Amino acid sequence: MEKRTGKFAGEDPFVLARAWLEEAEKTEPNDPNAIALSTVDPDGLPNARMVLLKEISADAFVFYTNYTSAKAGEIDAAGKAAFVLHWKSLRRQIRVRGLVSREDGEKADEYYASRSLKSRLGAWASDQSKPLSSRAALMAEVAKVTARHGTDPARPPFWGGYRIVPLEIEFWADGDFRLHDRFVWRRTSADAGWDITRLNP
Ligand SMILES: Cc1cc2nc3c(=O)[nH]c(=O)nc-3n(C[C@H](O)[C@H](O)[C@H](O)COP(=O)(O)O)c2cc1C
Repeated sequence: MEKRTGKFAGEDPFVLARAWLEEAEKTEPNDPNAIALSTVDPDGLPNARMVLLKEISADAFVFYTNYTSAKAGEIDAAGKAAFVLHWKSLRRQIRVRGLVSREDGEKADEYYASRSLKSRLGAWASDQSKPLSSRAALMAEVAKVTARHGTDPARPPFWGGYRIVPLEIEFWADGDFRLHDRFVWRRTSADAGWDITRLNP
């Protein structure tokens, strides 16, 4: 097999993803951890939106959201999702497809506690993805939850993380004349070994 060198070196795709993200943190003007998260609704109609990737652990990609949102409904029904990270400054992307489960224990409590008070209260106030009559109605809800939960709100039971455990991770880097480099790590289940393949651009 061809030896992977330079930006593609290494066997562990989580280590590589972390290294690429660290590089992007130095060059992107903002939100280098923003991912376009893709889900599918019950009719098979795809959906996409940005969320922030909060952790690349040894076996999963983690983001946080409202469990009653549209995305959460679609993830919970399918148990699957995909996302892409794209860095214009590096001209690189990482694509991930995988199985999703909730991160709603201690780790979610810890992450929630690390957020600013306004963000913590905002999570309580927003009935994410549901209709809202006006901005004033949202601000009234913020005032209500502030009075109720004070300065040390607990993590809302309807808010937490999702862990995407990949079956496929592709690393893509721009090449001259559209002759890009692509390597994909694939496996058949979450505990199977990786098969690594170079793809045509
Ligand atoms: C850069 C960026 C980062 C975002 N990060 C998050 C996030 O981490 N969690 C989240 O729930 N929504 C985040 N949002 C808002 C989502 O894109 C989306 O509007 C919201 O989650 C509702 O999506 P849904 O109705 O498909 O569930 C972010 C938006 C942008 C533009």
